[in-house]
Amino acid sequence: MTTTLSSKHMVDQGVRIIADGQAPSGAYIASPNFPQYHYAWLRDGAYCALAMDAAGEPASAEAFHDWVAGVIESRRDEIHSLVGRLERGDIPKPHEMLPTRYTLDGQNEHVDGEAWPNFQLDGYGTWLYALHSHFGRELPVRLLPAVELAVSYLSSGWQLPCFDYWEEFGHRQHTATLAAIAAGLKAGSSMLGASAPEEIANEILRFISTRCVFDGAFGKGPEDGRVDASLISLATPFGLYDSDDPVMARTVEKIRGDLSSPTGGIRRYIGDTYFGGNPWLLLTAWLGWHDRLTGNDAGHRAARDWVLEHATKGDDLPEQILHEPQDAAFVGSWLERWGPVANPLLWSHSKFILMESEATSATWN
Ligand code: BGC
Repeated sequence: MTTTLSSKHMVDQGVRIIADGQAPSGAYIASPNFPQYHYAWLRDGAYCALAMDAAGEPASAEAFHDWVAGVIESRRDEIHSLVGRLERGDIPKPHEMLPTRYTLDGQNEHVDGEAWPNFQLDGYGTWLYALHSHFGRELPVRLLPAVELAVSYLSSGWQLPCFDYWEEFGHRQHTATLAAIAAGLKAGSSMLGASAPEEIANEILRFISTRCVFDGAFGKGPEDGRVDASLISLATPFGLYDSDDPVMARTVEKIRGDLSSPTGGIRRYIGDTYFGGNPWLLLTAWLGWHDRLTGNDAGHRAARDWVLEHATKGDDLPEQILHEPQDAAFVGSWLERWGPVANPLLWSHSKFILMESEATSATWN
């Protein structure tokens, strides 16, 4: 496959798009050209912060971290009440838990009509992970209270079913969500200099290793053995499993084998219907990032070329392409419902930057 765009150009373009998508508050909008994504997701934003750090733009990452910390602190009473209820065994309803997306000034989104699943725990874990990656153990004192609140929220709520990375299957637990929580708690342990969060992280990892492995590979969750591209996170970047751990290695090969489209893009999971279940640019770049870190140069090159090949006019990276659907009927129905797919998607650009920079995975010891 040939492409006229250079990787360096696309990294620079990504830095511009992410910077332009950062509100004065510090929040990153998910996509400026797709009204449904005019919110700041903790998951997308944490990866944008990691990318801005990797691209030599730490001030942007820090502004995001300060924004998240402010949002979490503004909910101190709510978090204390949720943690208290969880500890008493009084399980809150999903809509009572913290949201995963906020308006750019840190408020709950306005829900008009059908509620959009918002209870997702992974974003808080991924935020703690990104914060630790930015500051290491040298966390500024001003951020301590928010880290303590996020750690206590995740420590008491990690077992709850919630919506997954793809905002689906809210009645289940999910391996990638549990991994993000475990990574966040390990990060929290390091930043707070406390062992309790790490012990819970290890309990979560035992749960993943005993309940979420199917035929030698990680599955979407304890009740769903299908492979899911978000499982790359268990190694890259969370470093919870070595890339040559046999279960991790088999998972990655299943992602490459089962989730590759005919042209080599990576889909979310088999059975995905969102805009037809096409390959996503950020997932292809995520696998390319993992391949770079594991010395699979051919895989890394193929991912880079595929993503560059699917940049749109103006060198924007969309969420997904539309011409390799699993089920074409769902392309039209989603286009009718929500219009053209998100483009540019900041999270796509962040994963391209991470694939093409020196960004590494965590090492916890
Ligand atoms: C995806 C989420 C993502 C959000 C904003 C949704 O369609 O499923 O993973 O956080 O878009 O980019």
